[in-house]
Formats: sequence, C-alpha cells, structure tokens
Amino acid sequence: MLRYVTTNPGKVREAEQYLADGSVEQLDFDYTEIQSPELGPIAARGAREAYREAGGPVLVDDAGLFIEGLDGFPGPYSSYVQETLGIERVRELARPLENARAAFRCTLAYCDGEGFAASPDPVDRADRGTAAAAGPDDSASDAGRTGTNADGTNADAAGTEPAGETDPLPVKLFEGYVPGRIVDRRGSGGFGYDPIFEHAGETFAEMDTERKNAVSHRGRALAKFAEWYAER
Ligand code: IMP
Repeated sequence: MLRYVTTNPGKVREAEQYLADGSVEQLDFDYTEIQSPELGPIAARGAREAYREAGGPVLVDDAGLFIEGLDGFPGPYSSYVQETLGIERVRELARPLENARAAFRCTLAYCDGEGFAASPDPVDRADRGTAAAAGPDDSASDAGRTGTNADGTNADAAGTEPAGETDPLPVKLFEGYVPGRIVDRRGSGGFGYDPIFEHAGETFAEMDTERKNAVSHRGRALAKFAEWYAER
C-alpha cells in the first residue's frame, strides 16, 4: 500500500484518480520542512522521514507558486506567505510586472527504501537523515544540482542518475509545472492562490476540479509518477 503523506485528504482523492483502486491511502504525518530555494530537497527530506515513520512506500508532495519577475517568490515559502501576507498582497507585489508571468510547481518525492533504475526523473541521494543534526545541506542533492530558472522551472530537468553519493534512502522525484500569470482575483473555486493564477484565459478558481486537475502542476506530476509506479 502506498501512503500519500499529507494533512489534506483532497490531495489523496486527486492521487486516486491516477493510481489503481485501493492502492493509495492517506498518511496524516507532519514531516519537518527544511528551508531550501527548491522544492525537491524539501520533499525528499520529508519522504525519508515519512518512510522511516511508515516503514513502507510513501509519496510526499511539495508545491508552490513561482513568480518570474520576483525571482521565483514566494516559491517554497508559498504556504507561509499565504498565511502571513495573503494572496491579495502577493497580487499587489506582482502588479508592476509586465505580464506577471508565474508558474505553479509540484514535486512528488517517492521513497520505499530501495534504489532506482535510471530514468529521466531525478533521484535525490543526499543523506539528510544524518546531516540533519548539522543542519540542512543540499549540496549532494541531484535535485539541487539541476539549475532553476527565474520562474522556478528546472533548467536541467533531464537529470539522469548521478554516480557518487551513496545513501541508504534514495528518493525519486517527479515534477509537474503549469505556466500562467498573476491577475486580479477571479472565481470562487479551488484554494490557496487559485483566484489570482490565470492559465489559458481562466483562473484556477474559475475552473472546476476536473479541469484544473487536467492541467495542474500536481496532476502532471501525478501522471508521471503513476506511469513509473505501474512498472515498479
Ligand atoms: P503544499 O506544498 O501543497 O502545502 O502547497 C504550498 C502552498 O502552495 C499552499 O499553501 C498553497 O498556498 C500553494 N498551492 C499549492 N498548490 C496550489 C494550487 O493548486 N492552487 C493554489 N495554491 C496552491
């Protein structure tokens, strides 16, 4: 049984649309979120911690909104910024920007205690379990090695398996990305930044769940993961 590590049951329902019936269940576990400018190391660290807690296969997801003209802000800090500034003030920060291009990104991190055969999706091999005492260090992260564009997308998403570091708990990463722009609030559906994020002429808050899932960062990452997981 795969455990989707989240406090949000809605994410599990979304994952169920991509995975075989009864193959995934929620693990309501609050893992430690390290600070990093990228989602990969945060999700990977969470997946190791959750695997040690669950003792079986786990999937952690970390997501955020990356505004190109603000150097990717709020990025991995999206949750904190939403709670402190709120989405209206994020919209105001983006107002002077021409086009206000942005992207939602989601990284899924899978850990089952085993290694992985090579595939285009990167593997995080940093041993933060032991590094945690000394503070986070992402220098050995495959995800950390791929460059990040201003909108938060990976400049080198085709990372193949790196030789080098050995870690008892490698973590496989799957990334999903959806481009859009920041606009004045529209729509009443969705959650988080959905009302100010426009994709293909509609805000995410104007789309119903099915339409949003079909294009969303999380849906795209889940589709990649599900295809790979079916082979595993
Ligand atoms: P989390 O990693 O899924 O908890 O997401 C971090 C933050 O990013 C959330 O608190 C939301 O503010 C934002 N976020 C992530 N995904 C979405 C989305 O699909 N729509 C709107 N906001 C999102």
